Amino acid sequence: MRLLHYQQLAFIFITTIKITSAFWWSLGLPSFQLWSSQSAANQLLEKNQFCSSLKFLTLDQRSLCQTNPKIFSIIHRSLRLAIDECQYQFRNQRWNCSLFNQPEILGKLILRKTPETAFMYALTSAAVMHNIAKACSKGELHECGCDKSQPKVSTDAMVKYQSTTTKPLTNVAFSPMSSDGFEWGGCSDDLKFGRNISVSFIDRQELFMTPRRIVSLVNLHNNEAGRQSVERNVQLTCKCHGVSGSCTLRVCWRTLPDFRIIGSELRTKYASATQVRFNRAMNILKPRKNSQKLFNTTDLIHIHMSPSFCEKNLQLGSLGTTGRECNLTINEPGSCSVLCCDRGYETIISTIEEDCDCQFHWCCEVRCKRCVKRIERHFCK
Ligand SMILES: *[C@@H]1O[C@H](CO)[C@@H](O)[C@H](O)[C@H]1NC(C)=O
Ligand SMILES: *[C@@H]1O[C@H](CO)[C@@H](O)[C@H](O)[C@H]1NC(C)=O
Ligand SMILES: *[C@@H]1O[C@H](CO)[C@@H](O)[C@H](O)[C@H]1NC(C)=O
Ligand SMILES: *[C@@H]1O[C@H](CO)[C@@H](O)[C@H](O)[C@H]1NC(C)=O
Repeated sequence: MRLLHYQQLAFIFITTIKITSAFWWSLGLPSFQLWSSQSAANQLLEKNQFCSSLKFLTLDQRSLCQTNPKIFSIIHRSLRLAIDECQYQFRNQRWNCSLFNQPEILGKLILRKTPETAFMYALTSAAVMHNIAKACSKGELHECGCDKSQPKVSTDAMVKYQSTTTKPLTNVAFSPMSSDGFEWGGCSDDLKFGRNISVSFIDRQELFMTPRRIVSLVNLHNNEAGRQSVERNVQLTCKCHGVSGSCTLRVCWRTLPDFRIIGSELRTKYASATQVRFNRAMNILKPRKNSQKLFNTTDLIHIHMSPSFCEKNLQLGSLGTTGRECNLTINEPGSCSVLCCDRGYETIISTIEEDCDCQFHWCCEVRCKRCVKRIERHFCK
């Protein structure tokens, strides 16, 4: 029964929109959530039929699903991480990243190369790299493990001490290159392997999908911006060794920060994304207008402008803000005037009863009054 469902879904996709390289995002649609929570054994049992039913994946991606379900399920999990992070980062915005509720919306948004799409490309490729690298050092995959290489670390690398030390747990600046009593050790997250999987599962698909050259270049650029954000946010974690809590020898390894840090950084990049055009003669992307700032490999770029996301327009992938809860007390994105696009809002008043004025009486009783509290909630018209 469920397989039929997947096939139907794939059918809707293929018949309604051109295949694009972000189609693997379809794994984030509600119909696949069930699968991600299944046990690994079940996945293996079903994988042959399951993988080949995923018609929205490229042959390459389907073959990874078949040959390495473990990595595939981490990729699937990474998509969930990216979606949750996107919804967190945009929770008070007109666009709130609820593109995974319906296949149509997702399809339309993927095709338009807006700053929102740019953000999602960067976030998903970062999430795959992040999750795979973490899985390596946790020993979840037999293809990779701890990264034993001794990477160059910038001299102002932030160090997070493990709690076994007497050193404060706060971050301190310190230079492993010049410091005595420093040793690489422990288990570093395997960024190289994470990058490899991210590139081969996501970037390589651009080769097969043959979209327009500019589209392909923009997608690849944003994927890479996401991965660089992961690399830039690597931390050093050190453990002190020495007599009675002195720190004569530090053993350090590289760890990835919480994914929130990367989400927030990319959210900032989204806010200053550059609109680009393709310069045919030079075969490169350039800012659309000469007045726009130049972008580098860490910046997000887009081709199309975002719609306002005020009105419902499924063609543009916009759900509109009607019915969204807004906030009267702040003058920020989640405020009623901004979120409701000046259409106004409706207020719904409800009351709840709760304990109040509680007093302690000797001995031993707490007596409270019941108070009625008025709650006002506001919803965009
Ligand atoms: C990933 O690693 C494999 C095996 O080491 C290698 O053959 C392949 O070229 C790498 N791919 C990328 C995109 O780095
Ligand atoms: C890229 O540009 C950003 C500003 O958009 C700047 O903060 C950053 O330092 C630049 N990075 C590199 C590697 O040039
Ligand atoms: C996001 O916006 C859509 C459309 O307005 C709405 O249906 C949905 O409930 C919102 N999601 C959240 C988490 O606020
Ligand atoms: C409105 O904003 C205030 C202050 O930021 C916050 O405490 C409150 O929870 C918000 N209310 C809603 C409904 O989001």
